[in-house]
Amino acid sequence: MDYTDRNQGISDIGASHGAAGHGRAKRLVGRLPSPAIPRRVRAVDLFCGIGGLTHGLRSRGIGVVAGYDADPSCRYAYEANNDGAAFVEADIRELSYRDIEHHYRGADVTVMVGCAPCQPFSAHTRRNKERHDDCSLLDEFSRLVQQGTPDIVSIENVPGLARHDAFTQFTRRLHDLDYDVAYEVLCCGDYGVPQRRRRLVLLASKLRNASIPQRQAATPTIDSFIRDLPAVGSGQSHPSDSAHVTLPLSDLNYRRMVQSKPGGSWKDWDEDLISACHSKAYYPAPYGRMRWQAPAPTITTQFCYYSTGRFGHPQQHRTISVREAALLQTFPPTYALIDPNAAMPIHKIAKHVGNAVPVKLAEAIGDAILDAACVR
Ligand SMILES: C[S@@+](CC[C@H](N)C(=O)[O-])C[C@H]1O[C@@H](n2cnc3c(N)ncnc32)[C@H](O)[C@@H]1O
Repeated sequence: MDYTDRNQGISDIGASHGAAGHGRAKRLVGRLPSPAIPRRVRAVDLFCGIGGLTHGLRSRGIGVVAGYDADPSCRYAYEANNDGAAFVEADIRELSYRDIEHHYRGADVTVMVGCAPCQPFSAHTRRNKERHDDCSLLDEFSRLVQQGTPDIVSIENVPGLARHDAFTQFTRRLHDLDYDVAYEVLCCGDYGVPQRRRRLVLLASKLRNASIPQRQAATPTIDSFIRDLPAVGSGQSHPSDSAHVTLPLSDLNYRRMVQSKPGGSWKDWDEDLISACHSKAYYPAPYGRMRWQAPAPTITTQFCYYSTGRFGHPQQHRTISVREAALLQTFPPTYALIDPNAAMPIHKIAKHVGNAVPVKLAEAIGDAILDAACVR
């Protein structure tokens, strides 16, 4: 059965805007479809993870019909929360556009989105050791765009990608393929995400000129997102929610946590708890606790470890739980994360949550896609 039929309203959107009033829409104006025709906007999410980006786009009515990812442990959360979107386990390097084009059957507007991970690696030479990033997966995404030239393309990535050759080549290829391209490093807090996270967002369109999502709000603080959750101990999970779970602290780290102050660091501890590596540390962020009235630091894939950032709960003697991290990533409280019928190590689901595009940022990207698709 066709996806659109099963998900009423999600991908059939009556167009209400044409080019009029869009100041920059000159070069592409001739390609605008008639605004009177209802539009089926269909998207495929490459490198979909557990579906942060998919979920935000769908909540804006974009018909994300499939997500592709090489890690099968993302399947449960992706499919359980995105009814009708298929999770396809696949290595993007082995795909051609032919493998995915059937997802666009019946679409008026085709959209390809993707968050290709760039892996840092160290290159050792005789004289120096530098950090580099392997962005070859962005090249793979770019290859699929070139093969299929979908109407709209969007990527989200770390801010540093903007300085990378792979990004320059990607945008050059988009221009060569006659896309209008816009990109910017955004503060996720401006879109209702209670974090200091910054991300590069790019939108490219063959229909209407692309524009970056408008800033929407002041950065919220964490208290309205996680204060009401029930208390849970270090190394425990709450009976009402298997994702409200934390990794255990060692005895030494528990004693350190007890002495940590919200917004503070290891500098708050008694001398005997400080080890040599702490006093040699260049910055005090590890072993911190969050403050209720502040945004969280960027939720990374490592948030379940006390030693990797300011991931201590503001009051309880533990790191934030997987559920709390998901809420700070603006996933809805009901987002199912852990398959009740399969064992999933906590660090693995934590990695998927930290990797996700915050849902509220994804919603803003969705609005920008709909603008480019002429359906808002
Ligand atoms: C940054 S995460 C994507 C997050 C996702 N967009 C979300 O919002 O939840 C990158 C994903 O790329 C996947 N990945 C890495 N290499 C891959 C490859 N060669 N083919 C397919 N997926 C890959 C990882 O498993 C990971 O889930």
